[in-house]
This record gives sequence, C-alpha cells and structure tokens, in this order.
Amino acid sequence: MKAILLVGGEGTRLRPFTLEIPKPLVPILNLPYLEQFLFFLKQVQVHELILAAGYLSDQILDFCKRVSGSGIILKYLIEKEPLGTGGAIRNARAFLDETFLAFNADIVTNFDLRRLLQFHVVSKGEMTLGLVPVLDPSSFGAADLESTGRILRFVEKPEKGKSPSNFINAGMYVMEPQVLDLIPEKEKVSLEREIFPKIAQSGKLYGFPWKCYWQDMGTLKNYLQIHQDFFKGELLLKIQEGSVQKNGIFIGRGAQIDSSAQLGPCVVLGENCQLGADVKISNSVLWDQVIVEKGSCISNAIIGKKCVIRKNSIVHEKAISLSGEVNIV
Ligand code: GDD
Ligand code: MG
Repeated sequence: MKAILLVGGEGTRLRPFTLEIPKPLVPILNLPYLEQFLFFLKQVQVHELILAAGYLSDQILDFCKRVSGSGIILKYLIEKEPLGTGGAIRNARAFLDETFLAFNADIVTNFDLRRLLQFHVVSKGEMTLGLVPVLDPSSFGAADLESTGRILRFVEKPEKGKSPSNFINAGMYVMEPQVLDLIPEKEKVSLEREIFPKIAQSGKLYGFPWKCYWQDMGTLKNYLQIHQDFFKGELLLKIQEGSVQKNGIFIGRGAQIDSSAQLGPCVVLGENCQLGADVKISNSVLWDQVIVEKGSCISNAIIGKKCVIRKNSIVHEKAISLSGEVNIV
C-alpha cells in the first residue's frame, strides 16, 4: 500500500535546531526522525512512501538518496509555498489511487497500524484517524466520538476545558482517495480545521482509539521526554550500529569520554562527542561532534551538532545550536 508523510512544516517549536535542519531530520536516539519513522512503518506493508516536502526540502531529498535501498520506494513532492496539511495531500493526488495511509512527520509511537487498517475496513468510513488519550488535549485536535467509532465533531486546538473529549488525533490516518475531492486544489488547506469537519458532517469520519506510547516530538520538552521514555523502556526505537547502551546512557560511535566524567541518568551522546575532565551530564541529549570542555555541567538540555561548551559552563534547561540558544520551558 502507499503512504504519504507530511514533512513540509517549519518546526518552529523546535528552534533553534530547525533553523538549520528540517524537523524530520532531527535525530531521535542519534538517527534522523525519518529513519526512526521507516522503522515504525515496517509493521505494515507500505511499498511506496511519498514525502510532501517544502521547508528545507533539499536536505530531505539528500536523505531520500542516502536511504534508498530501504525496501520502500521514496517519492517526493516539493511545495513552493506551504499548502498546509490538506493541500499537501491533495497535491499528491496523482499518486494516490487506492486506500492509503497518511502521517504527520513528528509522531513517535508504537501505535498498532495493522489494527488501525483493520478497523478502517470494517467501519467502511472514508477516513479513519488514529486516536490516543491525553490529559490535556488543548495543543492537539480532539474528537467527539460515538461508541461505533464515528466522529461527530472534531476540534483542532480546543480551548482548555472545552475539548469534546480526551481522545486526540495521533497524526496518522487511513484515507480513501475520494476524500481528496473535498480538498480544493493548489490552495493552502488545513486538513484538521477545514476537511475533518466536512467529512464528519457526512458521517464518514471515524476514529480508532488505541492506548499506546505516543508523543509529538515537535517541542523541545517533548523531545527530551521521548529520550527519557526510551530509557524507561516505554518505546522501541531503532538503534544505531556501533553505539553502546548501558545504565541509562547511550553513547554514539567514536565518543571520547574522560574517565572522570559523570554521566546519567538519561544521557544520549551523538557520534564523535568529546567530554573533558569532571564533566557532568544528566537528562540531556547531545548531537554529533559536541565538545564539552572540562568542569562543565549539563542538565535537561539539548546540545546541537558541533557545538562547543566552554570549560566550567553550567547549562540547565537549554537548547543550544550553532544558530543560537533558547530556554526549555
Ligand atoms: N507538506 C507540508 N506542507 N507539510 C506540512 C505543512 C505544509 O504546509 N504544514 C505542516 N506540515 C506537516 C508538519 O511538518 C508536520 O509533520 C505535520 O504537518 C503536522 O504539523 P504540526 O505543525 O506538527 O501540527 P501540530 O503538532 O500543531 O498538530 C497536528 O498534530 C497533532 C498530533 O501531534 C494536528 O494534526 C493535530 O490535530 C494533532 O493532534
Ligand atoms: Mg506536531
């Protein structure tokens, strides 16, 4: 079957990192998100994946060239102007001629896609949303669901306390091609705000709730949380060849770590990182080629590729890249 992945967003909530690389290439446990996504997708038989790209699409294209040979044919469409989540899928119409899967490109989950597909076949809807329960739906899209799974109402980013339910759109869909007829061509269209309500009105929008690990990696806080959850054993991720994992520490290839450095809990080191004497790191993710000079202390932080943390620095709750730094709130 075919699938489409929405990789065109600017990833503003992951700045400063997404000033340099698109969100789908941000490393999750040292591998680009897209590589982790392909690992997740293996549970179903997808033979062709269309990447709907826009922002920093050159880098996405380079990635596609590098991973060709993964067993899935990767195709890409590039939007000159962002078409929104709906417009991007409409734009791929020529490729989507039978039931297909669609995904947001920032979800980290072990959702059972086979069950989602089975439910879609049985419900006979035009579109089925994977749903997950959350405590606070206000930063997501929430569904008002009948016991049959039919969605009566869908509200994107409901005001706090006004959500129709705690079941949110998990960013994964099964769609029939006729849904594409509802999306105007060559226009910026939001699937969630404009199209879901239309399909819900015709009674053909369904939701399949599934209790599982699920996280949107699109914020700095969630990004750190995913890595901590990995160490707790809550989710399965692809492991980079040559890396080492022990006692809540994940060490990429080629790391040079002074014997006096204190690491843990929940520390990820990218490839070829260098840690000096008496360095302390906890609950943090360092990308490739980070240098931490002696005496520095890093906690609850994300340090981007090739950054140098000068000696005796204290870095707490910060995201630092070569383009700048922000507090993680
Ligand atoms: N091609 C393309 N073009 N992709 C886009 C565009 C665009 O114009 N705009 C956004 N995207 C992609 C993003 O790259 C991302 O993979 C996906 O669409 C969703 O965009 P986000 O910006 O991450 O949306 P969100 O997290 O605020 O909300 C969405 O995800 C939630 C689950 O994480 C919605 O689908 C919510 O309903 C949902 O609950
Ligand atoms: Mg998101």
